[in-house]
Amino acid sequence: MNFHIDSIRSDEYPAIAALIHDSLVNWYESRLGQGARFGDRADPFLIFPEVYETLDPGEGIVARDAHTGELLGVCFVHPRETHHAVGIVATSSLAGGRGVARALMEETLRRAAAARKPTRLVSSLLNLDSYSLYTKLGFVPQSIFQDLLLTIPPDGLGIPAPPNIDSIRPARPDEAARLADFEASLQSLRRERDYRFFLENAVGNWKVWVSEAADGSIKGVLVVSLNPAMQMLGPGATTDEETALAMVWQALDELRGSTYVLLVPASASTLVSTLYRWGARNIELHVSQVHGESPAGSGIVFPTFLPESA
Ligand SMILES: CC(C)(COP(=O)(O)OP(=O)(O)OC[C@H]1O[C@@H](n2cnc3c(N)ncnc32)[C@H](O)[C@@H]1OP(=O)(O)O)[C@@H](O)C(=O)NCCC(=O)NCCS
Repeated sequence: MNFHIDSIRSDEYPAIAALIHDSLVNWYESRLGQGARFGDRADPFLIFPEVYETLDPGEGIVARDAHTGELLGVCFVHPRETHHAVGIVATSSLAGGRGVARALMEETLRRAAAARKPTRLVSSLLNLDSYSLYTKLGFVPQSIFQDLLLTIPPDGLGIPAPPNIDSIRPARPDEAARLADFEASLQSLRRERDYRFFLENAVGNWKVWVSEAADGSIKGVLVVSLNPAMQMLGPGATTDEETALAMVWQALDELRGSTYVLLVPASASTLVSTLYRWGARNIELHVSQVHGESPAGSGIVFPTFLPESA
């Protein structure tokens, strides 16, 4: 297949949204019979180019048919202090299996190599095409995450608040650097730009929660996407499972009457079993993957797809 790699034009966000929707619906329907998960409209997927091109202007990459100029694939790069993050990666359903995603990923890896940084992403464990794509390119799987779906009844979870709930408060607008430092103290990654973006709250709709110890040190951060097109908790990081649980409870308590997804480390067994008791259902599994050197972290992390983080 003859195609070339290019940047995203500002007039093609609707075409990008349509491509992402088409690739997800077709892949999940043909392999798992779950295409309906992504709805029948492409416009909610505008959130990807809108958020990503605001967050990292010019870092979206597309593959175009060399003759017609038609979009065949897209992916987004998020260069950060310690690493490059990548996501979402999608190939048009008519162009699958012909090297489009590989070419896009090779371009992302060239950029990371030029910056001398590792590349991080989160990939579905139900999707062997993407798992294989990344591991064939040298990515190494790290931690498994359970995608847990929770419906919060209109009158709340009906579960008493966990201990330490009083330590949780909304983040202040000037806290981006502090939140990034906190996450960097646990994980081998720092991404102040993401926290600044959430706190500025100009595109998308975000709320950022912080857990603070009595001595003023941060014990956790959890971002909530309030955009109806992406009802997810995360990204987030906490020092321990107890803090994670309190933060999730606090976030969910403000989301009564809605359904949310969060990615929880499968190894956080207390957190997972408690969320099961709260009614959580597994809908997918993901694995974080790293290309290049990146030491293992500590604490609890909640990855997301917007922006992709691991
Ligand atoms: C995942 C996706 C991006 C792959 O795109 P694609 O353009 O078809 O992928 P490519 O043809 O470039 O590459 C696929 C690679 O995986 C390999 N592969 C696929 N399934 C494999 C398997 N079961 N075992 C080993 N290798 C496998 C292919 O051989 C190819 O490797 P190669 O380049 O070394 O030959 C595409 O299926 C898609 O858009 N899916 C829906 C959206 C999605 O789920 N995105 C990923 C989010 S994590």
